[in-house]
Amino acid sequence: MYPIELKNVSKSFPSAGKGSGELLILDNINLAIEDGVSTAIIGKSGSGKSTLLQIAGGLDAPSSGSVICSGTDFATLNDREKSFHRNSHIGFIFQANLLLEDFNALENVLMPSLIAGVKEKDCRERALKLLKKTGLEDRINHYPSQLSGGEKQRVSICRALMNNPSVILADEPTGALDEENASQIENLLLSLAKAEKKSLLLVTHNNDFAQKCDRVYLLTNRNLTLIKDSK
Ligand SMILES: Nc1ncnc2c1ncn2[C@@H]1O[C@H](COP(=O)(O)OP(=O)(O)OP(=O)(O)O)[C@@H](O)[C@H]1O
Ligand SMILES: [Mg+2]
Repeated sequence: MYPIELKNVSKSFPSAGKGSGELLILDNINLAIEDGVSTAIIGKSGSGKSTLLQIAGGLDAPSSGSVICSGTDFATLNDREKSFHRNSHIGFIFQANLLLEDFNALENVLMPSLIAGVKEKDCRERALKLLKKTGLEDRINHYPSQLSGGEKQRVSICRALMNNPSVILADEPTGALDEENASQIENLLLSLAKAEKKSLLLVTHNNDFAQKCDRVYLLTNRNLTLIKDSK
């Protein structure tokens, strides 16, 4: 059983504008994200990386094929069950960090656990521990507007880890940061994923970042080619 497995996944979108027709973006993709392994997907803009990640996380459905998350096929779940399953098995980090603006750093990190029905007194300690590990112990009461870009991404990492998911999905997590901050966040994400024994599926334009992962795939011509495997 894998944290995430894609079996014969294809995805097409209706082409926008006049006339009918479909745009095939992913063609018969097979991918297994193994326990504790970090995997990067690189590829040109528009090659379908974000589409693939959204499908892997059950945020979008494939046109054909299936996505199995920790033993459960997303297609067998209704929307509510899917959200619940995702919240307990997957942590997401996006390029634009999507923090809740009306909640402070600590509350943003607590949110996945509160949604899962855990009482605050039972998860507060873990949230504080994660914030401390990422160097944010003096920022726990700051609202997103009072945090730098790198700090917001660190809060996003803590939030992604909060429910102890088996896998973290990250789409260009350092895309909006300057080089120095990006490199700090890269190292933090990889070291935390390793320390907490999480699988990581990372989408990035940045080849140097990708090469720090155990496996690297190139998404080209609608399919994946394995270009590095150190596992
Ligand atoms: N909802 C949609 N409807 C129609 N076409 C879409 C939709 N979402 C994505 N596409 C198309 O699918 C292709 C892949 O998009 P995707 O966002 O996955 O690329 P990407 O590899 O993540 O690119 P980038 O590196 O620029 O983020 C693009 O050509 C895009 O226009
Ligand atoms: Mg993208």
